[in-house]
Amino acid sequence: MINEKNLYEKKLKMAFDKWADSYEIEVVHKLKKRGYSYEDLASTIVCKSEYKQGMKLLELGTGTGVLGGEVYKLCEADITGFDISKKMLQEAAKKNIYKNLINGNAESLPFGNQSFDIIYTGFMLHSVLDQYKALSEMKRVKTDNGKIILVDLFPLNSDIAKISRVHSEKYEYGAPSNYLLTEQLEEVIGSTGLTIYGQGQLGEDREYIHYYYIIA
Ligand SMILES: C[S@@+](CC[C@H](N)C(=O)[O-])C[C@H]1O[C@@H](n2cnc3c(N)ncnc32)[C@H](O)[C@@H]1O
Repeated sequence: MINEKNLYEKKLKMAFDKWADSYEIEVVHKLKKRGYSYEDLASTIVCKSEYKQGMKLLELGTGTGVLGGEVYKLCEADITGFDISKKMLQEAAKKNIYKNLINGNAESLPFGNQSFDIIYTGFMLHSVLDQYKALSEMKRVKTDNGKIILVDLFPLNSDIAKISRVHSEKYEYGAPSNYLLTEQLEEVIGSTGLTIYGQGQLGEDREYIHYYYIIA
């Protein structure tokens, strides 16, 4: 019998597989309409993570590699990409910038302790069912001084959060979601023993804001 967790994961894979072909055209335009770009986002990630040559990067929720491509342009880093959708990974492979591309759920990372200096993730966390588990895994696989740059969409207030399931179902090809308010995510981050060193908004205010955290 299929349990709730397996069903959630199955729906996630289906939705993102379905979106893979048209994803990039849609989202590049959407970010521009908000007043920033994937180039700007990559630059925020590289600067705020204090990247230095030779560091190993892990990108969670690679999608088609649109963000990884911009990060690579800035630093030609050694990047491992990880995503639950095989179709998204097939698109990302076409970018020819990833050292490895691995399929799986961010709740359980197939890497040893302290494998990466920098972990970054764009617009994935709201799709993760157990965000405590995913953040604990990020903590485990990053080096002691390593940084996590987490970028995601957050409902502007609790009224919007109450109906947030509809947002992903409508705009993310039927994907299930688990949106948290910024203050709720901050509590989850704290409960994993990670510390927030910086945060900020990207682009204009909407019902869902784009926001980043620098965590270590
Ligand atoms: C909205 S896309 C973002 C893609 C890319 N990071 C970007 O900035 O454009 C979210 C990606 O996260 C992946 N994803 C969602 N939930 C995941 C999970 N639990 N584990 C791993 N990948 C996941 C999806 O398959 C999808 O490719």
